[in-house]
Amino acid sequence: MSAPHSFSIFSLILLSLSSCASSIDVPAGYVAAPYYPAPHGGWTSDWTESYRKASLLVSNMTLAEKTNVTAGTGIFMGRCVGNTGSATRVEFPSLCLQDGPLGIRNSDHNTAFPAGITVGATFDKNLMYARGVALGEEFRGKGINIHLGPSVGPLGRRPRGGRNWEGFGSDPVLQAFGGARTIEGIQSVGVIATIKHLIANEQEMYRMYNLAQPGISSNLDDRTLHELYLWPFAEGVRSGVGAVMMAYNAVNGSACSQNSYLINNILKDELGFQGFVMSDWLAQISGVASSLSGLDMSMPGDIHTIPLLGSSYWMYEYSRSILNGSVPVDRLNDAVTRILATWFQLGQDQDYPKPNFDTNTLDAEGPLYPGSLFSPTGIVNEFVDVQGNHADVARDIARDAITLLKNTNGILPLSKTAKLKVFGTDAEKNPDGINSCTDMGCDKGTLGMGWGSGSARYPYLDSPIDALKARGANFTFFNTDSFPSNSNPAASDIALVFVNADSGENYITVENNPGDRTSANLNLWHNGDKLVQDVAAKYTNVIVIVHTVGPILLEAWHDLPAVKSVLFAHLPGQEAGESLMQILFGDVSPSGHLPYTIPTSEDNYPDSLDLIGFELGQPQDTFTEGLYVDYRHFHKANITPRYAFGHGLSYTTFSFTNATITPVTPLTSTPPARPAKGTPPSYPTAIPAAAEAYWPAEAKTYRIWRYLYSWLEKADADAAAADLAAGKKYPYPPGYTTTQKPGPPAGGAQGGNPALFDTAYTVSLRVTNTGNATGRAVAQLYVQFPPGLAVDTPAVQLRDFAKTGPLAPGASQTLQLRLTRKDLSVWDVAAQNWLVPSVAGDYGVWIGEAVDRLGVRCGSATGGCVEKAFSL
Ligand SMILES: *[C@@H]1O[C@H](CO)[C@@H](O)[C@H](O)[C@H]1NC(C)=O
Ligand SMILES: *[C@@H]1O[C@H](CO)[C@@H](O)[C@H](O)[C@H]1NC(C)=O
Ligand SMILES: *[C@@H]1O[C@H](CO)[C@@H](O)[C@H](O)[C@H]1NC(C)=O
Ligand SMILES: *[C@@H]1O[C@H](CO)[C@@H](O)[C@H](O)[C@H]1NC(C)=O
Ligand SMILES: *[C@@H]1O[C@H](CO)[C@@H](O)[C@H](O)[C@H]1NC(C)=O
Ligand SMILES: *[C@@H]1O[C@H](CO)[C@@H](O)[C@H](O)[C@H]1NC(C)=O
Ligand SMILES: *[C@@H]1O[C@H](CO)[C@@H](O)[C@H](O)[C@H]1NC(C)=O
Repeated sequence: MSAPHSFSIFSLILLSLSSCASSIDVPAGYVAAPYYPAPHGGWTSDWTESYRKASLLVSNMTLAEKTNVTAGTGIFMGRCVGNTGSATRVEFPSLCLQDGPLGIRNSDHNTAFPAGITVGATFDKNLMYARGVALGEEFRGKGINIHLGPSVGPLGRRPRGGRNWEGFGSDPVLQAFGGARTIEGIQSVGVIATIKHLIANEQEMYRMYNLAQPGISSNLDDRTLHELYLWPFAEGVRSGVGAVMMAYNAVNGSACSQNSYLINNILKDELGFQGFVMSDWLAQISGVASSLSGLDMSMPGDIHTIPLLGSSYWMYEYSRSILNGSVPVDRLNDAVTRILATWFQLGQDQDYPKPNFDTNTLDAEGPLYPGSLFSPTGIVNEFVDVQGNHADVARDIARDAITLLKNTNGILPLSKTAKLKVFGTDAEKNPDGINSCTDMGCDKGTLGMGWGSGSARYPYLDSPIDALKARGANFTFFNTDSFPSNSNPAASDIALVFVNADSGENYITVENNPGDRTSANLNLWHNGDKLVQDVAAKYTNVIVIVHTVGPILLEAWHDLPAVKSVLFAHLPGQEAGESLMQILFGDVSPSGHLPYTIPTSEDNYPDSLDLIGFELGQPQDTFTEGLYVDYRHFHKANITPRYAFGHGLSYTTFSFTNATITPVTPLTSTPPARPAKGTPPSYPTAIPAAAEAYWPAEAKTYRIWRYLYSWLEKADADAAAADLAAGKKYPYPPGYTTTQKPGPPAGGAQGGNPALFDTAYTVSLRVTNTGNATGRAVAQLYVQFPPGLAVDTPAVQLRDFAKTGPLAPGASQTLQLRLTRKDLSVWDVAAQNWLVPSVAGDYGVWIGEAVDRLGVRCGSATGGCVEKAFSL
């Protein structure tokens, strides 16, 4: 989500320049095709009971009650970042929606967990789930119905993109496991998770529609959509996610919040999504059109251009558009049923707590509706401590994500008595206070998270310096980013240099970076390169510790002889210190792996991955690189990166042996036919009486100024009914119909045709610790399509991974991995289905510790596995 945008007269002039140009700006061939009607929810058997319960309430709701629950009551009009209207007569409460993916935003007594990118670096499915459970417990404990996470889009296509760190890494399968395990954890305690942002929201700048300009258009082809960007969403839907948030940007020129092809076709029909679809904050740009296109909930309720005036595209206008016949009552009934069914599906009808915190203030008492100038006041914060023992899982993740990139002469781990000189402000807390910058919109002190709506306040921050003190380590700290002249280098000293790189959301600009890393590029912040170089000129043993949102360039100092070791600690959240100590002093071996590639230069990337700057009209972002992002691109362009995707060293070594591959479900070129849709609830389609929306006289007596209400003035309600009676017609878009479709062949259940997820092969592998320290290994499984196909496929693609428990020297563990039918398929644009391009072909199933360390090859056709190094 985001704060409102400012606008100016200049903007209005641009509007007139841009409005006529916007549609022709989309490059030829990229088409936002219409897809109507919005598919009804309730056709998969795993949701039947929830839909039955919901339909009983919906059948009894009035028009004004129905439109009330589909939108927020306005920005800053309640305790949460989003607050829906209620239908208390049928005992349906106002729902509380709250950011963000790594913890409760703008609250107290909550845990600031490691960010998504850190979770991705663990390559640990159990920790992904455990963090989800802990997040769910905290959101539930504060009375939040809907958690606005996880984020699996942006995918990380653009290395400089501002919000990549909220997700799990630059690979669809890593994002998919990160997102799905998080959703399963959150929803296991009854909180509705929201997978976001659908879709292709790959940069921050120009993402929003405003008075001056339409939001940026991501133009991408159907195969790229399916094989990269949609993949993690499919897995999230398959895990039963309750809500989906549409992105700010457009796809093929049509805003995601009203893109009928994306919502109706791709999400609700093909992926079989049964929950409800919400807009991102102020991303809804129309009333009737967004409803017909499948949007179910408007957040936070206001119109996008000028919020806080008490105007909404829905609420009042939604009631009107039903009475004048423009939106079929059937569409509203479906939206309301989806929202209520999700609430039942997660069990929120049973003893669900009410909000006990306020995102707008940390005071105990305050205005109940800060968006209204005249608001009643009351108790808003009850300071409920929801942290439980979640610091433990936060610390485990922060530690098991730490990625050891380089360790010359085994300089790490450190001995307990090592004499340390510590440099860099990133080693210690922000001296102005750990929560001194709104939404973490500054880069001062230890970088535990990026900035924006995806941040959370720290209850405390265990900094590296705190943890060195707690250990009684022998260290001297120089709290500066310029090399000090008084550090008295001694030959026996070990220098620890702390450096960082930040990014965040577009509504805050930090050190000239408007979310995306425009000014910083991929360099360290605060002259970090120079600090490392200066330390390396005076000390012979230098260890560089990096807190970063994503890839950075290491070339300025990586190969200096003094730089013995480089560690990425990613974004550790509140547990930055002790997690790092456990690795530095060797209590635990590092086991994190890079969730993206580290380049040697920005020129390693194709031009299409540069940030898009200002353009008149609608900025256009065309994904000409197709499937070739991150390691897929480095392989195709035959560029050796500084560090490959998946790279990460340990204090021990592992062997991967005794691999076997076993066929399970026989493959066919086309998957078995999908199951037919079940029967969703149905309702009378007659347009309700205007009286169902009349504003009751008594309700006017407690009306809150600027609050969004769904009731209509009697005269407006009657006029709408008269328009209908007079046969006034809405200009429906091309392709508009109200006849429900059977759904495409690639659909059939949550996530798509269930046959896509049949296990085609299992792979088992013996991992043995061949070194001297206890440690955990990650086995990454990549698929290489058979040679000679008519379609181009990336050299190898990650499809599964598994992590051992701590293995003592000499100990072994057998890991199981699997390949599904979908893993071995390509999206065929003509067939509109996942096809296995070569049923008899020999798929290379490569296993290793990184994409550049693949040492075992199993063959689907040969049926055997050999130890062999992958090369292009
Ligand atoms: C965008 O246009 C491309 C090219 O015509 C098409 O393959 C793709 O399906 C379109 N995507 C969406 C979401 O409309
Ligand atoms: C809801 O049910 C009550 C009790 O059966 C009935 O009186 C009322 O008319 C119903 N309301 C609607 C809108 O269906
Ligand atoms: C809509 O929701 C608000 C906030 O909960 C409530 O005050 C109002 O009565 C609701 N309107 C209807 C029609 O139920
Ligand atoms: C019906 O009302 C909606 C909401 O105000 C409006 O957008 C639409 O144009 C109206 N339809 C007609 C036919 O006037
Ligand atoms: C730190 O190490 C130095 C050099 O070995 C030694 O002189 C000093 O006593 C140590 N300080 C502590 C607190 O151990
Ligand atoms: C692994 O393979 C080796 C030889 O290839 C064999 O000696 C050993 O028994 C196998 N171990 C297991 C656990 O299957
Ligand atoms: C394990 O320790 C022994 C004895 O300290 C040493 O000789 C050997 O090189 C070590 N092996 C590895 C893989 O570190």
